[in-house]
Amino acid sequence: MSWTRDSLIAAAREAAVGAYAPYSGFHVGAALGFADGSVVTGANVENASYGLTLCAETVAVGKLLSTGARGTLEAVAVIGGKLGQVGGSAPVSPCGRCRQMLNEVAQLGGSDPVVLCVGVDAVLELKLSELLPHAFGPADLA
Ligand code: THU
Repeated sequence: MSWTRDSLIAAAREAAVGAYAPYSGFHVGAALGFADGSVVTGANVENASYGLTLCAETVAVGKLLSTGARGTLEAVAVIGGKLGQVGGSAPVSPCGRCRQMLNEVAQLGGSDPVVLCVGVDAVLELKLSELLPHAFGPADLA
């Protein structure tokens, strides 16, 4: 069975349960949806050395690529909020580093995925190319 826009958002929400965010208290989940119907999720992982924090999107990309999985990335859902209030924040838009990480997967599969930035009042829908125009990617190293 394939994912839908709603199920991808639900997968991101579920993934946020696994967040390790004792410092910010901001729990984030991300879900990557592929053309073959598969979904890969991630949650943010913080560190006592604050700057080493890994965002949910980056964890999801690391999970994907480190298992050898590849595919056509069609959509990404990101959701966050304080514990017990995930989804209650303003739309969560991927940080710059995460945009670049997502771009790696997108370019490998030749797609320009839609990014669903989930907020309490609205879901902001943007193409990755809008979030990261003129991206540097694998093709630039050929
Ligand atoms: N965070 C994410 O995981 N993804 C985003 O798109 C925005 C920020 C995390 C990093 C940190 O653990 C917490 O949210 C607060 O910045």
